Amino acid sequence: MASERTLAIMKPDCVRKHLVGEVLRRIQDAGFVIRAMKMIRMSKPEAEEFYAVHRERPFFGELTDFMSSGPCVPVVLEKENAVSDFRILMGATNPADADTGTIRHDFADSMGENMVHGSDSAENGKIESTYFFTEHELVNSS
Ligand code: CMP
Repeated sequence: MASERTLAIMKPDCVRKHLVGEVLRRIQDAGFVIRAMKMIRMSKPEAEEFYAVHRERPFFGELTDFMSSGPCVPVVLEKENAVSDFRILMGATNPADADTGTIRHDFADSMGENMVHGSDSAENGKIESTYFFTEHELVNSS
């Protein structure tokens, strides 16, 4: 399969636990190339816009409060099968269901505070990447 991009976010719990370096290590060891990276703090309206697809869900308020509670680190990752391979690296949304050795199994506390986000399709990877990065910020280094 051709190279694919996915948008990952190291969430506020990941930053608060000082695990950004550990998660990046795992990402790079798994063969992903980092195309863009920054640290930002989303406002509540920005978190609501990013997660608009979940607007009707009962956890929407909790999710957007949490995502705007502190800095997070969005990254654009590239490799073959980036979307599905990153979802394997993350583990299941609920850390109680995540496989041993995945980021969520090893570090996440709950379904809400689950360390990382990853796009669910290549199409959404593109859409989500443009939410955080301009075309100019997507670096073609290799
Ligand atoms: P993420 O991959 O960022 O996409 C949507 C997020 O909603 C998800 O990770 C979880 O953190 C969160 N989420 C999903 N289900 C629940 C739930 N039942 N309660 C709280 N948060 C949830």
